[in-house]
Amino acid sequence: MAPMTRSRSDNEEHAATELTAKYYGQRATAGLIVTEGTVISEDAVGFPNVPGIYNQEQVEGWRLSSSAVHEKGGKIFAQLWHTGANSHPDHHNGLAPLAPSAYNPNIKVFSPTGFKESETARAMTLEDIKKTVSNFKKATINAFEAGFDGVELHGANGYLLQQFFSKNSNFRTDEYGGSVENRARILFDILDELKDVVNIKRVAIRLNPSLNGIMGISVDDETIKLYDYIVNRLNDYGLAYIHLIEPFTDVTAIPEAIQEIAKHFRKIYKGTIIINRAFNKETATKVLSDGDADLVSFGVPFIANPDLVERFRTNAALNAPDQNTFYTPGEKGYTDYPSLSK
Ligand SMILES: Cc1cc2nc3c(=O)[nH]c(=O)nc-3n(C[C@H](O)[C@H](O)[C@H](O)COP(=O)(O)O)c2cc1C
Repeated sequence: MAPMTRSRSDNEEHAATELTAKYYGQRATAGLIVTEGTVISEDAVGFPNVPGIYNQEQVEGWRLSSSAVHEKGGKIFAQLWHTGANSHPDHHNGLAPLAPSAYNPNIKVFSPTGFKESETARAMTLEDIKKTVSNFKKATINAFEAGFDGVELHGANGYLLQQFFSKNSNFRTDEYGGSVENRARILFDILDELKDVVNIKRVAIRLNPSLNGIMGISVDDETIKLYDYIVNRLNDYGLAYIHLIEPFTDVTAIPEAIQEIAKHFRKIYKGTIIINRAFNKETATKVLSDGDADLVSFGVPFIANPDLVERFRTNAALNAPDQNTFYTPGEKGYTDYPSLSK
């Protein structure tokens, strides 16, 4: 099950709740669930009502979900998230959100009072970067304390780590900007910290290499070089998996973009690849039998079908998802989709 923000942590502590646990417990037959993005610090927030994993109340809240999934024999990783520039000052007491450089992603962002235009972010100091690396470490330790089987770093979809990777959001002139090695540095700083404190085989990363023209990111003339460098270097770490996303938009007219993500990175990466985006039973079966990926994750189909695996197994019809309740509070559109046995 792919990570999906559901904005149900509408409590003062920004903690996952019993309701969150019910939702993930219902989906435990997924095999491996990756939670919604859970923020690593207060300054990482960019959406309303998302859960955090930086204090003890949040650890206790998440323990309910990890237990609910384990009781039914499933595995669950926490997705660790910093939204960077894709946030709004309204989430940060009026302060501009942190990012590699002072730029405006020019997107609509989800402020506490609804959608607003994004504003210019605040360039991180070296001290801010150090603190963020340390916040990823603390959040990882917290995740294991909360009973998660592992963590997935959110390196995709235009959020902080991808903002470091991409030329259109990183104009730094220090060791975190400029060359491909420098723009990827923060990721390896984090992994180098994590390998000293947790079992690195329980750590994963999500990447969206051909993200273009949405979420504040554009493909550039070094995108392929950058991701080839990252994925090659990840071979040395022995991570749980890398979670790759096929292009979100049509990039066939863009020669600098990788067209077929799984095929491209299968040639480079020696470990486990999870591939995602818009798969169904047939296309997923094909990508696996072609050998281009080891696992396929499903997002939206799991919102509406808690027993998606059983439905695939029995060729049963799928429930249709209701987009209007993707991010609204409460049980509606969250824990009330029927399974076959009902
Ligand atoms: C409601 C919703 C929330 C999402 N939130 C996240 C998120 O928190 N982290 C993430 O990496 N991707 C997120 N995504 C992207 C999904 O993980 C997935 O990449 C996307 O839905 C495409 O896969 P699918 O076609 O199987 O749904 C979200 C998608 C949806 C629909």
